[in-house]
Parts: sequence; structure tokens; C-alpha cells
Amino acid sequence: MKHLIDIKDLTAEEMLGLLDLAERLKKEYRAGIRHTYLKDKVLGMIFAKSSTRTRISFEVGMLQLGGQALFLSSQDIQLGRGESISDTARVLSRMIDAIMIRTYKHQDVLDLAAHGSIPIINGLTDLSHPCQALADLLTIREHKGHLRGLKLAYLGDGNNVANSLLEACTRAGMDIAIAAPAGHTCDSDYIADAQKQAEINQCQVLLTEDPEEAIRGADAVYTDTWVSMGQEAEKARRIKIFKRYQVNDSLMALANKDAVFLHCLPAYRGLEVTESVIDGPSSVIFDEAENRLHAQKAVLVQLMAPEKVI
Ligand code: CP
Ligand code: NVA
Repeated sequence: MKHLIDIKDLTAEEMLGLLDLAERLKKEYRAGIRHTYLKDKVLGMIFAKSSTRTRISFEVGMLQLGGQALFLSSQDIQLGRGESISDTARVLSRMIDAIMIRTYKHQDVLDLAAHGSIPIINGLTDLSHPCQALADLLTIREHKGHLRGLKLAYLGDGNNVANSLLEACTRAGMDIAIAAPAGHTCDSDYIADAQKQAEINQCQVLLTEDPEEAIRGADAVYTDTWVSMGQEAEKARRIKIFKRYQVNDSLMALANKDAVFLHCLPAYRGLEVTESVIDGPSSVIFDEAENRLHAQKAVLVQLMAPEKVI
């Protein structure tokens, strides 16, 4: 593993290995064991979009591993004034040890990796959110004890989070059903990858416009905002289109009795999910948010100090 740009760059074994490492680091941290795997290492974190969880979990993750993180708002570095991605990549490669970037264009992350000589981590683009999907699987595995054979239903916008879930679930041997309105399903490259993985790992990918069909028999139910960062101007139109995909009690009743509810957050109660579901007994959203920290610590160690992984 050189970078983490998309889950589809990982084999199933590599992805599951990251989950095992995350689980170990979480247990050890809780037991009071402190690691200095990333002593003297520095992670640069470029943000062109807002963030609560991603920023804090990467920053805290670096501190817990004995290293440091630099918050680099793209507004404050020269990238925001038009300096090229390639020059930025080459300069940062001379000074720091890895870069996490949250931005709009996925291609910018690929370009950073192509021109730099240090590991690049995708902290969310318009196309994908791989770190989120790792934390999501870690959370489901903690609650269900395993992943293979489970079904995840994603209702709403076939966005960056949904694209990464397609890649991650099919690598773990989970069935995944995406219910989205016409024209708003997942990206075709991510669908093609998931279909290939589903064949290899003997699981199913269902793409439908019908939320009831998708959620029936699900072990994990997932939704995300209907208005991602950068889509604010389309808010009114989107709220109308996505209305029937709201995760509410009557849809949840079609999932398995012990189904867990996940949301990457930030959530908008009363839109993509009702308060009764997100704040109800099946919701595991705060375990999921915490697991961003543990999953990303695994990614950081794997990329920045692979010799420390045993
Ligand atoms: N889920 C997630 O990535 O949250 P932030 O936007 O707060 O980082
Ligand atoms: N789909 C959302 C995820 C936020 C973490 C967005 O891109 O804004």
C-alpha cells in the first residue's frame, strides 16, 4: 500500500488487514498502551472543505502515535491562489512525511500522488470517502461480530460515501443495496468495481430506485446528507427528489430486527433520517464517529511506518 485514495486500490486482504490493525490499536489504546510508531513524523492535512471528524481524528491520531499534524487550509496556502498541485506535491514531499487531503476534484488527489513522493490519503473528494468506509466496516464488525454474509442498505444520494461503501462491502463479502432516485445512483466506475468484487467474494450488489426493496432484510442501514458540500445551491430541488428515501421507523421495520443504523455525519434530522431512528436504539453513529480515529491510525501506521506492523 503506497497511498489510500480509493478502497478499490486495495485487495480484500489489505482492507481487512487494516480493520484488524485498527481493532488492535483501539484495544491497546484503551488498555493504556501507548505507541510511538510515528515519532518525528509529520502529516500535512490540506482542507478545501469543512470538517469536524476527519480533521480531529487525523490530528489526534497523529498525536496518539507520537507524531504531529499540520492543518493546512487551502485558503491559507498558495494552492488556494493558484499554485499548482504538482509544485505543492513536490514541495511538501521535501518537508513532511505524508499528506491527507479533503477537496472537490478527485483528480487533484491522483495528481498529488503522481507528482509527490510521499503517501497520499484521501480525506474525501466529490467521488469517494475511503477513510469513512473503513470506520463503517469496523463499526459493523464490532456490533455484529463478522462482516461476510451481512447485508448493508444505503438509502438516498449515491454520493462519495456510497461509492466507497460499494467498494468496501463487496471486498468484505457483504451484500450491498443502494436505493437512489434515477440519475442519483453511484458512479459507474465504482459500480463496475463492486460488481467484479461481488463475483469474487460471492456477494450481491443491488441498485434500485425502491427504498423498500433495498432495506428489506438489511443488517445495517446507512444514509448520508442529501446535499453534499458544494451542492448547496441545489438544496431545495434535492430535498424534493430524495423525500421518499428518508430513513424512518416504517422503513426500518423492514430491515432485520437487530439492524444497526449508521450515518457518516453531519446529519440533518428530519431530512435524510428521522430523530426517532438516528437517536433511537439501533443507532451506532457515535461508535462509528469514534472509529474514524482508530481506522485512520491503522492507515497512518500502514503507510508511514509499515515496518512497525506485525
Ligand atoms: N464524516 C465526516 O467525514 O465528517 P467531517 O465532515 O466532519 O470530517
Ligand atoms: N457526502 C457528504 C459527506 C460529508 C462527510 C459530503 O460530501 O458533504
